[in-house]
Amino acid sequence: MNDEILLELHDKVALIRLNRPQVLNALNDALMDQLGAALDKIEADETIGCVVITGSEKAFAAGADISAMATYSYMDAYKGDFITRNWERLKTFRKPVIAAVSGVALGGGCELAMMCDIVFAADNARFGQPEVKLGTIPGAGGTQRLPRAVGKTKAMDLCLTGRLMSADEAERAGLVARIYPADQLLDEAMAAARQVASYSLPVLMMLKESVNRAFEGPLNEGLLFERRTLHASFALADQKEGMAAFVEKRKPNFTNR
Ligand code: HXC
Repeated sequence: MNDEILLELHDKVALIRLNRPQVLNALNDALMDQLGAALDKIEADETIGCVVITGSEKAFAAGADISAMATYSYMDAYKGDFITRNWERLKTFRKPVIAAVSGVALGGGCELAMMCDIVFAADNARFGQPEVKLGTIPGAGGTQRLPRAVGKTKAMDLCLTGRLMSADEAERAGLVARIYPADQLLDEAMAAARQVASYSLPVLMMLKESVNRAFEGPLNEGLLFERRTLHASFALADQKEGMAAFVEKRKPNFTNR
């Protein structure tokens, strides 16, 4: 099996690098399974106090792997519990996680960043939820976490138009905590992680849990609704068309059904 992620331990900090550069770190099952296994290992390791997740300079992650899901039926998505089956480990992970985002964080990539506790961005970073262009919706928390992070109107703007937003805009909107030049991003994220990891681990866990209580109030009902709607989107002709068009590198011809 390929190493879809790379795990490095640096004293009290674990660094996870998403490692599918040939497809801009598109997130497939193998990658998400390996990410989950790495988080299991880190959670069990008492010495680790903080995690940094990063991608390449060009891409944090360009989204869920479109080629892998393009032909999913509704039953593939629903019975297979697409997303929930292996993306939620990050949500249940109890130690602090910093996303260090360089390049694109689109679709599931943006959603993965938003599942982290702190987002640092390189000045070249671009965020977006372009699923509308593929005939589906953000389905890994985007319709719920993005409005909480940036407010309803900007979240609607991003989701309904599919446009990308710059690191500056993301920082102004509250999605991003800090921006650094691309060549300093990882060093700065690791430095912050070392600082976090220098504190009491149970206190960090309590802090994370407490902040998330404020953030996640009615989130779960929204997530469930979103997930089922994502699954239902695989019954649309326009989802088949949108994803097939992407794979075949042509413009989609949507028919509104
Ligand atoms: C599969 C992907 C991919 C993806 C890029 N690639 N994104 N493969 N899934 N999400 C592949 C391309 O097919 C190509 O493979 C290679 O990565 C390089 O990409 P290019 O398009 O050639 O690069 P570039 O011209 O620089 O354009 C970069 C880009 C574009 C703007 C990011 O790749 C793009 O628009 N990607 C899709 C973004 C997207 O729609 N994300 C949302 C996915 S849906 P080859 O083999 O040709 O070299 C989603 C949520 C679904 O995430 C709901 C559940 C979560």
